[in-house]
Amino acid sequence: MQLMKSSYTELTARGHVTDLLKPDETLEMLETYGFAVTQSPSVTVSTADAHREMAAIRSDFGLGEPYVPLLYRDRDEPIVTEVTRKGGSDHPVFHTGEAQGWHTDGLLEDIGTIKTTLLYCVSPAHRGGSTFLLNAGRVFDELRAEDPEAADVLLQDTILGRRSTIPGVDREALGPVFLELASGHYATRYGEGRVERWYPRDAAEQHALDRALRFFRARRDDPDVRIDLLLRAGQCLIFRNDVLAHGRENFTDDPRHPRLLLRSLHTNAPKKTS
Ligand SMILES: [Fe+2]
Repeated sequence: MQLMKSSYTELTARGHVTDLLKPDETLEMLETYGFAVTQSPSVTVSTADAHREMAAIRSDFGLGEPYVPLLYRDRDEPIVTEVTRKGGSDHPVFHTGEAQGWHTDGLLEDIGTIKTTLLYCVSPAHRGGSTFLLNAGRVFDELRAEDPEAADVLLQDTILGRRSTIPGVDREALGPVFLELASGHYATRYGEGRVERWYPRDAAEQHALDRALRFFRARRDDPDVRIDLLLRAGQCLIFRNDVLAHGRENFTDDPRHPRLLLRSLHTNAPKKTS
C-alpha cells in the first residue's frame, strides 16, 4: 500500500469509480488510496442484486464471510446490515438521517481488527448522505514529524475509550489511536464524535493530546487527505477500515424511495485471489 504518500486531490480530477467486472483495477485503487468504488453493470439494482454483487466482491478479494462486531453479538442483527432511516429504532447511527462524525467501524474491537468495510448503495438519499474518508495514517505521520510528543500520546494503549451509545448497552473498549504496523503503515481507531472518552494520565499528556486533536481538526478537511463520496445506486464503496477514518453527511429522504445502503465488515484485507 502506498497510502502514506497518496493524494486524494488527483483522484477528484481523475475519477475513482471502477468496473465491478475488473477486480485488478479495483485492487490497485485499494492499494494506492485505501478505497475503491465499484459500479454495477446493471442500470437499476434491487436489494437482491446488491447482496449478489457484495458476495461477488467478497469472493473476488478474499474477504471471507462478513464479521459480526462484538457490540452486536447478543442482538439480533443480520450480518449484512441495512443502513436506512427507521422510525422507532434505538440504533444511534444506522437508522437515522443524522450526520456521523469521524470514526472507524468496530467500536469494541481491538485496533486493526476490522480491515475492510463494504457499503453498497441500493438507493441514495433525496439530498445529502455523502460518505467521507480520511487518510488518517498520513496525517498521523505528519504529526509525528511536527510534534512527536503529541503523536506519542496517540500511540498509548489506554488513551482512547470508545463507549457504546446504544441505550442499555453499557460497554467501553480501551486502546491506542494509532498502532505502527510492520508494513510502515499505521492502523487507526481515530474518531471524534459521541463515543470517544480520552484518558490522558497527567496534565502534560492532556496538553499533548489537545495539540494532537487540534492538529487533526486542522488537517482533516484538506482535500489531499480527505475525499467525499456520494454513492449512486449500484455503487459499492470498499475501504480499508483499519487505516482510514470515515464519517457521513446528514441526509433527507424521499419517503417513497428512502436511502438504503448495505454494510458488511470483514477481518481480511482485500487481496488478489486469481
Ligand atoms: Fe461507519
